Amino acid sequence: MRKDLGVQPALFPMPVVIIAAYGADGTICAMNAAWAQICDMDKIALFIDADHKTTKNIMETKAFTVNIANRANMETADFFGIATGNKMPEKFARSGCAAVKSAFVNAPILTDYPVAIECELAEEVETPNLHAIVGKIVNVSADETVVGDKDKIDPTKVDALIFDQYRNGYYAVGEKVGQAWNAGAGLMKK
Ligand SMILES: Cc1cc2nc3c(=O)[nH]c(=O)nc-3n(C[C@H](O)[C@H](O)[C@H](O)COP(=O)(O)O)c2cc1C
Repeated sequence: MRKDLGVQPALFPMPVVIIAAYGADGTICAMNAAWAQICDMDKIALFIDADHKTTKNIMETKAFTVNIANRANMETADFFGIATGNKMPEKFARSGCAAVKSAFVNAPILTDYPVAIECELAEEVETPNLHAIVGKIVNVSADETVVGDKDKIDPTKVDALIFDQYRNGYYAVGEKVGQAWNAGAGLMKK
């Protein structure tokens, strides 16, 4: 038997990423986002409210980073989703996180976090159904401890957080159970 559960604004898993951008005065703001997705070979879409301080920063500086959150950074990642720079100008400083300016875009990389996707603002999309910020990915940088063979990021080392919007849980992922474009290949031969 299946149960009908009604409308639920959730997929599982959802990513936990921290969007970071400088304001016009150079102050960093960062926010937690789970509604984020790769949408082309060099593009990422963020479904973030226009009113967030981080969104306002992105519109000012036209650049941002998407930092993958992991278990070691769960406390600051959640803080970035609770506090707002609109009311707490020292939000980023209070987190205690370190940052350096990207060599590729005018946006801060959170160096405590293992992976940063460095983006230029490509487009803001506003329709009756969505508000999206689309970034053009110009570089990805990662702590060398999570980079494996052929300079590919090794997900078993990232210990990435994923978000469960059914129960507001954070989970950590890392077990590889198969290979994509391969696990189903046997059925092609039937
Ligand atoms: C787990 C989690 C996921 C979130 N995902 C999103 C999201 O995808 N889009 C969004 O607009 N806000 C999201 N938020 C809310 C923002 O992070 C939050 O409103 C934050 O205070 C905005 O910060 P800012 O105003 O300093 O930019 C999320 C919060 C949490 C805790």
